[in-house]
Amino acid sequence: MIDINKAIAQLSWPQEPRGLYEPIEYTLASGGKRLRPMLTLIAADTIINGGLINGGLLDDVMPAALALEVFHNFTLLHDDVMDKAEIRRGRPTVHVKWNDNTAILSGDQMLIEAYKLLEGIPAAKLPQVLQWFNQMATGVCEGQQYDMDFEQAAQVSIDDYMAMIEKKTSILLAYAMKIGGYIAGATNEQQEALYQYGLHIGLAFQIQDDILDVYGDPKTFGKAIGGDICCNKKTFLLLTALENADDATKAELLQWLLQPASAEHYEQKIAAVTDIYNRLNVRETGEAVMEEHTSIALAQLDRLPQNDATNQLRNIAEQLTIRKS
Ligand code: IPE
Ligand code: IPE
Ligand code: MG
Ligand code: MG
Ligand code: MG
Repeated sequence: MIDINKAIAQLSWPQEPRGLYEPIEYTLASGGKRLRPMLTLIAADTIINGGLINGGLLDDVMPAALALEVFHNFTLLHDDVMDKAEIRRGRPTVHVKWNDNTAILSGDQMLIEAYKLLEGIPAAKLPQVLQWFNQMATGVCEGQQYDMDFEQAAQVSIDDYMAMIEKKTSILLAYAMKIGGYIAGATNEQQEALYQYGLHIGLAFQIQDDILDVYGDPKTFGKAIGGDICCNKKTFLLLTALENADDATKAELLQWLLQPASAEHYEQKIAAVTDIYNRLNVRETGEAVMEEHTSIALAQLDRLPQNDATNQLRNIAEQLTIRKS
């Protein structure tokens, strides 16, 4: 498979001002799964039956793949400010290592760099990709706003949650697939299959992210455990717990939601809320919903050419549900 980390390492950044570019280099060098660019490249490879590298299409698709990864990393800088998250990919987040202003401005510049990378797409394909990229970016912002609104909202349903994560997370995976396929010449029907695959693995992906935020190992997950509990994030786990709890347990949970996660109390709050989750088996409920969406994603692959790349998409969908990082 193509080395995305190498392609990212080859992006060059101006030396000055250091305060702007150093956090960008720091973020892009910190790894991550590189899922979105991988999806873009594999989607293209599926459509051209494994000829991505030898067929010379790589140079056409790579700019979009990189743009999507740089865009994703931009969202993380701002998301970590919004979520007050201190660790990502096993390192201090940009707003902690530097400050909020740095996370805002270096993040803004990464968004611009993402658009600059799109300049490398073949001219004939660029207008359509730009339109989709913009729809994706607006979707992510809308999803993030719902995510913030829901933290304060008293009533959030599982349907509200699913609509929110479709925007904040899934839409980026969906367009990563569709854009890759489109550049490789996918038919409309194939584009739709690629999009739906991305959308449904994205839903499963975010539910797993919510699960790992409670049950993950910080060493592999790279983020602090319990961050969502501390800020009363309306995750799949919390909403399912609120829905399934009997009156006494619900009262207990609501009591914890009223407790600010102050320095002295945050471990207590995480432990208590996790204990309620365990009693209500909300993790298992989440895993069942992930399975449903993984199946829907896998079914889309029958509408695509069958080759090694399609098999890779099968593996990715299956692996994401048991991922640890
Ligand atoms: C984190 O995405 C943000 C979510 C949508 C949950 P990833 O889990 O793909 O983060 P990296 O890029 O691998 O670090
Ligand atoms: C991911 O939401 C969505 C975006 C970053 C746009 P999270 O807030 O759950 O992502 P992590 O857990 O911080 O990576
Ligand atoms: Mg967030
Ligand atoms: Mg976050
Ligand atoms: Mg999360």
